[in-house]
Amino acid sequence: MASHIFTNEENNERLEYTLRVKEKNEAAKLLGARRNACVVTYGCQQNEADSERIAGMLEEMGYTLVKSEADADIIIVNTCAVRDHAEKRALSITGGYKHFKEKNRDLIIGIGGCMVSKSDMSEKIKHSYPYVDFVFGTEKIFDLPKIICGVMEKGKRMFVSNTGDATVPEGLPVHRESGYKAWVSIMYGCNNFCTYCIVPYVRGRERSRRPEEIVREVRELVADGYKEITLLGQNVNSYGKDLDEKCDFATLLRRISAVEGDYIIRFMSSHPKDASKELIDVMAEEKHIAKQFHLPLQSGSDTLLRAMNRRYDMAQYLSLIDYMRQKMPNIAISTDIIVGFPGETEADFEQTLDAVKKVGYDMLFTFIYSKRTGTPAAVMENQIDEKTKGERLSRLLKVQESIAEAKNREYIGKTVRVLCEGASKTNSEKLTGRTEGNKIVLFDGDASLEGKFINVKISDAAAFALYGDVE
Ligand code: 5AD
Ligand code: SF4
Repeated sequence: MASHIFTNEENNERLEYTLRVKEKNEAAKLLGARRNACVVTYGCQQNEADSERIAGMLEEMGYTLVKSEADADIIIVNTCAVRDHAEKRALSITGGYKHFKEKNRDLIIGIGGCMVSKSDMSEKIKHSYPYVDFVFGTEKIFDLPKIICGVMEKGKRMFVSNTGDATVPEGLPVHRESGYKAWVSIMYGCNNFCTYCIVPYVRGRERSRRPEEIVREVRELVADGYKEITLLGQNVNSYGKDLDEKCDFATLLRRISAVEGDYIIRFMSSHPKDASKELIDVMAEEKHIAKQFHLPLQSGSDTLLRAMNRRYDMAQYLSLIDYMRQKMPNIAISTDIIVGFPGETEADFEQTLDAVKKVGYDMLFTFIYSKRTGTPAAVMENQIDEKTKGERLSRLLKVQESIAEAKNREYIGKTVRVLCEGASKTNSEKLTGRTEGNKIVLFDGDASLEGKFINVKISDAAAFALYGDVE
């Protein structure tokens, strides 16, 4: 099915509601009221990107963005459902908002994102969190002005679920957190149904933005001085399959790279079953594309990969890695690994350890399997006990730590280009930044370097960071 790209009428309707909310807010401000908004984000980069759109729309409605919920007159929580832990945190933080509502009776509270896109959770909020004014699904972000207007005018709670109509919003305002790093969503949804994953159930089917819209956004970002642009999608390698015009991800990358300027492009995530040689060729050829690849493996056991419905085996995965390294010998490779998937035997887990050693990843994102109701894996037999999961995770982290340290030590004595991100959060005396391979570098320097590319000569390295001096 072709995606439904936002029409002018839909944008006009959104703007009408935006103005209606804005008028009310301006009138309240004239009477001395405050109109502050706070967006709280959980989960992945896609959620961060969505929150920047939510914040953009709130600004358009006359709100001033603030960092603390305590100062807000509207709070929007953008939730995640990938793991149980993220859901528990979102629910507990929402529980705490009851007190804010008692203090500020004008306060509006809304919850969106993946967690409430599951019908059971939406119901739970309806019944157990009566002070939450509205809930909206991941596909309904663009309806926010209409929803907020409804809550204000009718004084009623609103529950707006996903309807699976595969809309691709265009033209929404964006309030970007950074002046030099930007997210650009290129597609929404996922069609893969890995058996552990809730995402396809809460974000709907894959739908791509049109290439000209994406190139236009990148061109504007580069003109505005953005230095690092990360293209986002649950599986960027299926980009374009739903478009009428022929444009796959490799072609999109070529078109984006034709934009002139001083910037780098990153992308995530890639599914190994769809990563093409052509994509790797484009990366090798185009100077703007960072030589960094995040290729989620999930498990090193073919048996588990089948049970996870990943649709590749270790041999195929390793041949992709070989091709990448042949074309780009210094490429930095990272991955996602799940430990404790149902039925994971000690032998399966050892195959994961072997795979991690064989590939030699620069970075690992590790996850303990979390049962997600509604997914096939949740009802599989042989669920692994928490203790075994924890032990396996520690063993995996230990193996990876020495690999990462050895990889990072190879940089000692070399000069790398780094995008400076300002003061380090872990060591306030140092500046921090990231290499093209997405490695963290700590160095001395002036705060004015933030947002600039600089050359740093690496003098020391640990498993999770490089240390150096500005050249
Ligand atoms: N349990 C643990 N990890 C999960 N992921 C997705 N679903 C689950 C789950 N149920 C991990 C995968 C994915 C990453 C974004 O989150 O490794 O690549
Ligand atoms: Fe989840 Fe698999 Fe889709 Fe990634 S590709 S979002 S892991 S179903």
